[in-house]
Amino acid sequence: MRISTGIEGLDAMLNGGLPGGRIVLVSGSTGTGKTTLGMQFIYNGIKQFGEPGVYMTFEQDKDRIREDMSTLGMNLNELGDRFRLVGGPIATVYKYKKKTKAEVEDIISEVEEIVSEIGAKRVVLDPINLFLMLFDGDDERRMALATLAEHLTALGCTSLLTCEVREQTMDISRYGFEEFVVDGVIALYNIKQGQSFLQGITVRKMRGVKHHREIRPYEITNRGIVVYSTQPWLPEDEE
Ligand SMILES: Nc1ncnc2c1ncn2[C@@H]1O[C@H](COP(=O)(O)OP(=O)(O)O)[C@@H](O)[C@H]1O
Ligand SMILES: [Mg+2]
Repeated sequence: MRISTGIEGLDAMLNGGLPGGRIVLVSGSTGTGKTTLGMQFIYNGIKQFGEPGVYMTFEQDKDRIREDMSTLGMNLNELGDRFRLVGGPIATVYKYKKKTKAEVEDIISEVEEIVSEIGAKRVVLDPINLFLMLFDGDDERRMALATLAEHLTALGCTSLLTCEVREQTMDISRYGFEEFVVDGVIALYNIKQGQSFLQGITVRKMRGVKHHREIRPYEITNRGIVVYSTQPWLPEDEE
């Protein structure tokens, strides 16, 4: 079963959409559009497919997200009770740590509760590196992500985890192991070329899907992310 992102060019690169019930990492440096892409996945899911969705932020103020998304063609206020926006800045997240000694179960059970409350089919956690920051050392982090992934899979939701990576690199994760725990990776690149930055998107991995492998250009517009799935990314790619 394929889950359409509702982003036409991206669905084309995925030959239809994301694999249903799987967990996909969306990685990119700051400003590449991870939050926008994640919200389009939820917004389109509700508007076009009637699939309820949960968006959990670890980073931004919820009202600010609503404001920002309204400039990107998404009025979150019209989604009604098929939509939940939960979480808040990292300060809020740190409360979990104080209360629970970094027990991953607390955040997971909050997600599980909301998912079952609204019958969510789509989940976004944004950004997952801030969640992982709550844990000490790579072993604990990897264990936390594996536990989270296990629970998300058990819920039967299709989930996107965004991941902020370093600037001007082709890195696809922060800690270097996230890509192994998930079922798929979509990478957003923002690479300096002469006087400008070129934005490109690629599907690096997607279990069970015969996907495209090229890097394709994309833009963030007042209607969200638009992917040009048949155009070359860099000028020198042109024939
Ligand atoms: N209405 C808009 N039209 C075009 N580009 C926009 C608009 N709103 C935001 N952007 C661009 O999107 C970027 C933010 O995208 P965001 O999804 O928050 O990125 P990330 O989550 O990867 O940091 C902004 O830095 C800006 O460049
Ligand atoms: Mg973001």
